Amino acid sequence: MNGKVTVFGAGNVGGAVTRRLIERKVCKKVVLVDRMPDKAAGIALDILEASPVDLLEPVCLSGEDLEQTRDSDIVIITAGATRKEGMSRDDLLRVNADIVRECVSSAAKYSPYAFYIVVSNPLNVMCHVAMRAGQIPRTRITGMAGILDASRFQYFLSKELGVSVENIQAMVLGEHGEDMVPVPRYSTVAGIPVTELLPRERLDALIARTRDGGAEIIRLMRTSAFYAPASAVIQMVAAVVMDKKKILPCAAYLTGEYGLRDVFVGMPVKLGANGVEDVLELELTDEEGQALLGSAQKIKAQLALLGEAC
Ligand code: LAC
Repeated sequence: MNGKVTVFGAGNVGGAVTRRLIERKVCKKVVLVDRMPDKAAGIALDILEASPVDLLEPVCLSGEDLEQTRDSDIVIITAGATRKEGMSRDDLLRVNADIVRECVSSAAKYSPYAFYIVVSNPLNVMCHVAMRAGQIPRTRITGMAGILDASRFQYFLSKELGVSVENIQAMVLGEHGEDMVPVPRYSTVAGIPVTELLPRERLDALIARTRDGGAEIIRLMRTSAFYAPASAVIQMVAAVVMDKKKILPCAAYLTGEYGLRDVFVGMPVKLGANGVEDVLELELTDEEGQALLGSAQKIKAQLALLGEAC
């Protein structure tokens, strides 16, 4: 690995990811690319101008010239229109599919062996679009959403129980959207399943808030979240760059796991230097299995709308 990361999209998420990559020192160089080169250049310059104060290495470049992206180890795709109030992630389907295809075509030309992290929405469908557009093997592409959704669930659980977030693990599977599947049986506080700590109706309320987590932020600030999404992306980059072999909830392309195939679904995934090194199969109850199937069917229906279904 040469430590180069390219970020497509100089919006709020792309900017936050760029800044965090530099702060966390998880890579040697970040190239920020946008259809509006001045926007990328402006964010890069803003971050560079903070380097004397923050004493961070000035590793940030704007990506006006795609040559600068050559041989990136990791390509992060955040480009796309963002959801406005009242819009679902599905409304973004067609417009973002075109943008993601364009990014991947450019990226694949310069960095044929890169590992891809897709962030653009609707997430599970955009992973599929990116994989097809770049002919990317399944081990080299994943989507950021499960960590964000799990982190929201963990935060809500910590508030409800009055317990440190550090004690809480949460498992969220399925779609990044209304059909996501938080799994309380596999969500724990200091190892104790939350199902033993909270009554069903309180858990259901927290699950509903988790499903609505992205929309709640949009209602408040009229634009999509970016701090928590950026943190989730950084955790994924660190797992790959440092070969952590960390199990994280991420969107993975399934080839028969859970009886599902040809679809990106949120799963516990092992991330390391070889990318998606494994997809873990959990034992699910009938109810959980049905919810996961419903989630996968919704994603497949969106793929069919786009003409991307297998
Ligand atoms: C959210 C966006 C990133 O959930 O989908 O906030």
